[in-house]
Amino acid sequence: MTSPAIRDSTVLVTGGAGFIGSHLVGALAPHNEVRVLDNFSTGSREYLPPAPASASVSGSTSASASESPATSSETADSTTVHDNVTVIDGDIGDPMALQRAARGVDLIFHQAALVSVSRSVDAPRRSNETNLDASLLVLEQARQEDARVVVASSAAVYGHPDELPISETASTDPNSPYGIQKLALDQYTRRYAELYDLPTVSLRYFNAYGPRQQGPYSGVISTFLDQARADNPITIDGNGEQTRDFIHVSDIVRANLQAATTDAVGTAYNIGTGERTSIRDLAELVRDAVGSTAPIVHREPRPGDIRHSGADISKARRELEFEAQVSLESGIRSLVQETDRSTTSSQQAAMAAQHEQYSQE
Ligand code: UD1
Repeated sequence: MTSPAIRDSTVLVTGGAGFIGSHLVGALAPHNEVRVLDNFSTGSREYLPPAPASASVSGSTSASASESPATSSETADSTTVHDNVTVIDGDIGDPMALQRAARGVDLIFHQAALVSVSRSVDAPRRSNETNLDASLLVLEQARQEDARVVVASSAAVYGHPDELPISETASTDPNSPYGIQKLALDQYTRRYAELYDLPTVSLRYFNAYGPRQQGPYSGVISTFLDQARADNPITIDGNGEQTRDFIHVSDIVRANLQAATTDAVGTAYNIGTGERTSIRDLAELVRDAVGSTAPIVHREPRPGDIRHSGADISKARRELEFEAQVSLESGIRSLVQETDRSTTSSQQAAMAAQHEQYSQE
């Protein structure tokens, strides 16, 4: 399945310099005018797509400097950022920055969030400000611009699932402030279609992984990869029999592109692979892919950890015409190769390769 092309559109990606957002920007940049609104709390300019080898870009226009507070060339080394990408260094909670970033857009991908579940437990009001209050500003701005919105929701809306695989109609009982905030946002997103006739789609990501996922709140795959590379012990929480549905970021990008054109709006879709993998099997997969001899060790189980999680993908398959393409084995293999490349050559070369891959799809 190939994703529908989005061309000649003006698109805002909130959190566009982050893990998932930057991959989306890479896919959109060749044929659209893309605005990135990011406060760079976890994102990086290095993740943004580089200018193509040939200087001129066909099929789209660049944002004019007068329309935005800062262009790519003003805020970053202009050789590192694609001509079609305008970077607005700002917060989604800042109405002025948001207004300028969203002016005249056809489509908004709302990816910006405080993604740390543990931080949401420590500081629920602070995470609520971004994940819900500011997200509501994004929805309101979309309403103002009459723009389609695709929102990043999460499997966290389900909490401890009462059925497997988890369908979109399963009960929602989130067990963290993060999950509560994502559930409220998910509900707002769906209701905006009904109340204001706005084409909205909510995508409930399962466990995302892939290049550029790093930092203290990154997922288990990037943690295991770092440990295996360093030949440090691979740390399994509990007995490792807990399972997750791991989905590669390139599939998440495809799901977003489908959501940007589907007629089946005003609803939420599970975005997973439909396959569950135990954390113990994952540890072995990662260790083998790296060729490491790191020992696998067990720690105390994580308090409140969800035992099993796996998406029922039939609704996404049927209505969104989306199905994941990257198997966990090949996703981990390419992640290992990608990180090998970025440690041996410049970050920009790795970015160019990634960008090229999206351009050809
Ligand atoms: C993930 C998301 C979270 C979302 C939730 C929805 C990430 C980083 N987090 O949480 O935003 O709310 O899905 O269901 O994607 N583990 C180890 N050893 C480690 C690290 C983790 O064994 O060193 C285990 C954890 O205990 C857990 C599993 O791996 O059982 C997955 O952990 P993690 O990657 O943090 O994601 P989730 O907790 O599933």
